Amino acid sequence: MNGNLLIFSGRESKNLAEKMAKHLEMPLGNLEVKRHSDGEVWCKYHQNIRGATVAIVQSTNPPAENLMELLVAIDAAKRASAAKIFAIIPYFGYARQDRKPEPRVSITAKLVANLLTTAGADRIITIDLHASQIQGFFDIPVDHVYASKELLPYWSKYPIDTVAAPDVGAVKMARAWAKRLNAELIIIDKRRPKDNEAEILNIIGNPSGKNILIVDDMIDTGGSFVGTVKALKEKDANKIYGSVVHAVLSGKAIEAIENSPIEKLVVTDTIKKEITSEKIEVISLAKLLAEVTNNAFSNKSISSMFDSEEMKK
Ligand code: R5P
Repeated sequence: MNGNLLIFSGRESKNLAEKMAKHLEMPLGNLEVKRHSDGEVWCKYHQNIRGATVAIVQSTNPPAENLMELLVAIDAAKRASAAKIFAIIPYFGYARQDRKPEPRVSITAKLVANLLTTAGADRIITIDLHASQIQGFFDIPVDHVYASKELLPYWSKYPIDTVAAPDVGAVKMARAWAKRLNAELIIIDKRRPKDNEAEILNIIGNPSGKNILIVDDMIDTGGSFVGTVKALKEKDANKIYGSVVHAVLSGKAIEAIENSPIEKLVVTDTIKKEITSEKIEVISLAKLLAEVTNNAFSNKSISSMFDSEEMKK
């Protein structure tokens, strides 16, 4: 199907890349990734990649070796004369440090953008960045795509009458979802008294008796999400659901979700995670990523795959 497109993966995103390769009707390329005895990352392409467009799939969530594997694989591809290198980053980690909220801290999102570009990436394909402006941290093309293409059809079968943004950062996303689901919008006024702690101060909108879908780009400790579920329930919400793209799920997040009055949470497979919870369902974004990769390779439009509301987020 794609003469000169080759797809490879680091270890974090291997399952997702295998599914993408199936959709692209091509084998997943033979990239060996291993560690030396001291832990250093080593990569080797066991096939000719000269003149090819090499697509490397790897999310950059911790541990830092995930990012390192991607950088080393890009460098190896460049040195093996790949014509173009696409870094396909389903979950772009280190994105939350995207500005200086206090003195003497790093902007890691920009640092990672610099590292990827310096390593030799020609194009970035990524899903639901924590903040859309991170696209501008790169001076190479970034195809920023939205999981809502897969998630919205799923939720359109549910009787959702209200969409909730768990903080102001999620308002644009929630507004787009509310428009598509013909639902009302609720905004949560959240503060972070400390790192990894969420405090719900106010609810803007009326949750009473409503079937509410909470949408967000990621769920990490689950503090924002579970806090929102509880606050909505205290204000007499009827059924509460969640749709979150990146399942970081650190610490006791899964336990907290299970113990909360949520009906169901849907996440995607941008991050490799063993999830055995009756309340959490995982939807694969392999088909979406495969189509986007193929369109980028064939110089076809990517924006035309999405409706205009999604692209405005
Ligand atoms: C915040 O801006 C993000 O969109 C998420 O709401 C947040 O990062 C989730 O973190 P946690 O699950 O630890 O509250």
